[in-house]
Amino acid sequence: SYGNLQDFATCMSFHTTSTCSSVVHSQQSSSYTYLLQESQQNPRWLNSTSLLKPSFIVTPKTQNEIQGAILCAKKHGLQVRVMSGGHDYEGLSFLCKKPFIILDLVDYRSINIDIENETAWIQSGATIGEVYYNIAKKSNILGFPAGLCPSVGVGGHFSGGGIGTMMRKYGLAADNIIDANLVDANGTILNRKTMGEDVFWAIRGGGGASFGVVSAWKVKLVRVPSLVTVFTIHKRLDQEGVELVHNWQYIASKLPKGLFIRVLIQQIDGSDIQGNAKQAEVLFNSLFLGLKTDLISVMNANFPELGLKMEDCTEMSWIKSVLYFTGYQKGEPLEVLLDRKTQYKSNFKAKSDFVVEPMPESVFQGISERFSHKKLVFMIMDPLGGKMDEIEEYEIPFPHRKGNIYNIQYIVKWDSNEGSKQYLYWLQNLYKYMEPYVSNSPRAAYLNYRDLDLGINQQGNDSSYRQAIMTWGTKYFKGNFQRLAKAKHQIDPNNFFTNEQSIPPLCC
Ligand code: FDA
Repeated sequence: SYGNLQDFATCMSFHTTSTCSSVVHSQQSSSYTYLLQESQQNPRWLNSTSLLKPSFIVTPKTQNEIQGAILCAKKHGLQVRVMSGGHDYEGLSFLCKKPFIILDLVDYRSINIDIENETAWIQSGATIGEVYYNIAKKSNILGFPAGLCPSVGVGGHFSGGGIGTMMRKYGLAADNIIDANLVDANGTILNRKTMGEDVFWAIRGGGGASFGVVSAWKVKLVRVPSLVTVFTIHKRLDQEGVELVHNWQYIASKLPKGLFIRVLIQQIDGSDIQGNAKQAEVLFNSLFLGLKTDLISVMNANFPELGLKMEDCTEMSWIKSVLYFTGYQKGEPLEVLLDRKTQYKSNFKAKSDFVVEPMPESVFQGISERFSHKKLVFMIMDPLGGKMDEIEEYEIPFPHRKGNIYNIQYIVKWDSNEGSKQYLYWLQNLYKYMEPYVSNSPRAAYLNYRDLDLGINQQGNDSSYRQAIMTWGTKYFKGNFQRLAKAKHQIDPNNFFTNEQSIPPLCC
């Protein structure tokens, strides 16, 4: 049976060397509810009664217990959902339409930093905040280029790409992976050599969940100066903001690699002469890998209209800049990076785009209008260029390289008592409005900003490869999709690891 704890636990003890009663949590145990609720960073589905709950949650402490969980799930006809940080936008690490277990890596998260060789082995259940913290404890001139929110899990984030403030200098998190451990559908533990270059290629940006359980990653650390500079400039979007964002598009991807200026559009409260209480504002939020004085001269030469002054800039260590980008600005201790729960936990839905040509100024006027009518909506624009242009489209599965000037993420959030409908409608409308101005053929998307509206696998349908390549597959991966499907066939031909947007196997 699917749900017999005794059978499952017996199976686990048969396959593992440890006593694993404490790692299998059944629906009856109090730890089960806690684990299920704590880990979901998008609580959108928490109170839904129509969704299946996992038969068990397994929290392995050893690689051997990961092997056991995979083999026992298979034996009991259960699917496996792997969870590292639980940030999946569509809940794919904790939702499943068939009986399943969650393999929650919360207790599999040690980090080993090798300062001499400037590398680290990181278990997948670690968060990127834990990674940054551990590096900073050992060195003030090393860092790692990954995302902004510290609670994001390494397992999902590294395997889906990893966009962050240092990507213009060092590329994505996935560009800096040099080895990995993968437990496949047979419970075999593989490394870079034994999994082969195609599978190793696939798990660096193709999403780990299609291929097995990535238990750990070896990364190369990067050099950071002992002092960096940050700034945030706020402008009203309906005033000079529109022109500034328009101009930003022309320079952001061409600036020196060590300068990252992201744009955030959101609604603010405030009254103007016409009595409009709500307005949209735009924030220019920046990390410069260098000192204030150098930053000011780069800005004067490239973006003088922003009017950046010395007093707008703050010098700090790289690790403090990580806190700054998370929204901590009041001298909190570095230990806040160890909090596994996102500060922004709320119901949300997001969509993404890539932009290849600057848009006309009028588009931002339209955006300003839309944002002034809605609270809890956000648009984040992250500049590409620099190192991102130097990496070929096929080097790892993430293909959005040279020719793309920035990425856009549109996010709507809502309170539980408010309901999602009007927000989802607003988001669809904005996405439609943007269509003429963003990349097309395909209209590209970023895997880590997962969006099931782009298409899903039809379970049990063998035309899923063709369907996927015509929809979500090409949007996320462009010409890399076929190689991903072949790598999938190589490592998991029977499609044991499957979900709504897992890569379908393509034979030979
Ligand atoms: P989760 O555990 O939900 O996993 C996500 C997917 O990966 C699931 O399909 C899961 O099964 C699979 N998976 C997880 N662990 C695995 C493993 N060990 N082996 C195989 N498959 C595994 N992105 C970005 O690029 N830059 C950023 O700055 C941010 N910031 C950000 C902030 C907030 C608040 C959120 C909610 C999200 C982001 N993201 C982001 C997006 C983030 O990178 C994306 O959601 C990651 O997939 C999250 O990884 P987790 O391990 O936390 O998620």
